[in-house]
Amino acid sequence: MRLFRALHARALARHTSKEALAVELSEGEAFGILARTGLALLRGLCWKLFLRRSHGALYVGRGVRMTSPGRIVAGRNVKIEEGVELQGLARRGIVLGDGVTLGRLCAIRPSSYYGVDLGEGLCIGAGSAIGAGSWIGASGFVEIGRDVLLGPQVVIIPENHVFEDTSRTIKEQGVQRAGVTIEDDCWIGTRATILSGVRIGRGSIVAAGAVVRHDVPPGAIVGGVPARVLRMRTESARRSA
Ligand SMILES: CC(C)(COP(=O)(O)OP(=O)(O)OC[C@H]1O[C@@H](n2cnc3c(N)ncnc32)[C@H](O)[C@@H]1OP(=O)(O)O)[C@@H](O)C(=O)NCCC(=O)NCCS
Repeated sequence: MRLFRALHARALARHTSKEALAVELSEGEAFGILARTGLALLRGLCWKLFLRRSHGALYVGRGVRMTSPGRIVAGRNVKIEEGVELQGLARRGIVLGDGVTLGRLCAIRPSSYYGVDLGEGLCIGAGSAIGAGSWIGASGFVEIGRDVLLGPQVVIIPENHVFEDTSRTIKEQGVQRAGVTIEDDCWIGTRATILSGVRIGRGSIVAAGAVVRHDVPPGAIVGGVPARVLRMRTESARRSA
C-alpha cells in the first residue's frame, strides 16, 4: 500500500502544475483505487475472451454493456468506465486505439436498438478520450483521430432525416448518412453537437455548447449555434484559413 501511495504521489506531481501540491492518499483511498482498478482489470480479462481483438490491459467498469463484442477491437490500456453502452453491431465494427478512454455512461450506438438499421461504425485513435455521458450514434462512419478530447455530454450524429416530401411523414422518408471526422489533437467542449458530414480539422477547438454544421479548418476555435470561427489558434492557421 505504501509503495502504491508513493507511486501515486509521483504520478500526481508529474501531471499537475508546479503550484499544485501532490496530495498524499489516505490508506482507505489507496485501497479504494486499487480495489476498483483490480476489479476493472478482472472484468476486462473476462470481456477479452469475447472481443474480436484486444492487445493488452483492458479496464471495464461496473454495469458496462457491450453487444456484438466479436466486432470490437481494443488496443492496449483501453478504459471503459462504469455504465458505458458499447454496441459492436456495425458494418465496419468498432476500433478503440491504445489508451482510449470511454467515460462513464457514454453510449456508442451505430445501429438501431434491434439491429434492423445497420450502421457503419467507429474508429478512435490512440490516446483519445470520450467524456462522460457522450452520445456517438455511429450510423455513418465516425472517425476520431489521435489525442482527441471530447468533454462531457458531447453528441455526434452522422445522419439526417429526409423531409423534402411533405405528402409523406418524415419517418417514412428514411435517413441520409454522412460520416463525421475529427482529426488529431482536437478538443470538443462540453455539450457540443457535431452533425452529419462534418470534418473538424487538426488541432481545432469546439467551444462548449456549439452546434457544428460545417467543416472546421485546422487550428480554428469555433463556437455558437450554428458554430462560426471565433479565432484561429496560430498565425499560420490564420494565413491558411
Ligand atoms: C472556447 C473556449 C475554449 C475559450 O476560447 P478563447 O479563445 O479563450 O475565448 P475567449 O474567452 O477569449 O472568447 C472569445 C470569443 O468567443 C466567445 N466564446 C467563448 N466561448 C464561447 C462559447 N462556448 N460559445 C460561444 N461563444 C463563445 C466569447 O464570447 C468571445 O466573443 P467576443 O469576442 O464577441 O466577446 C471556452 O470558452 C470553452 O468553450 N471551453 C470549453 C470548456 C469545456 O467544455 N471543458 C470540458 C472539459 S474537457
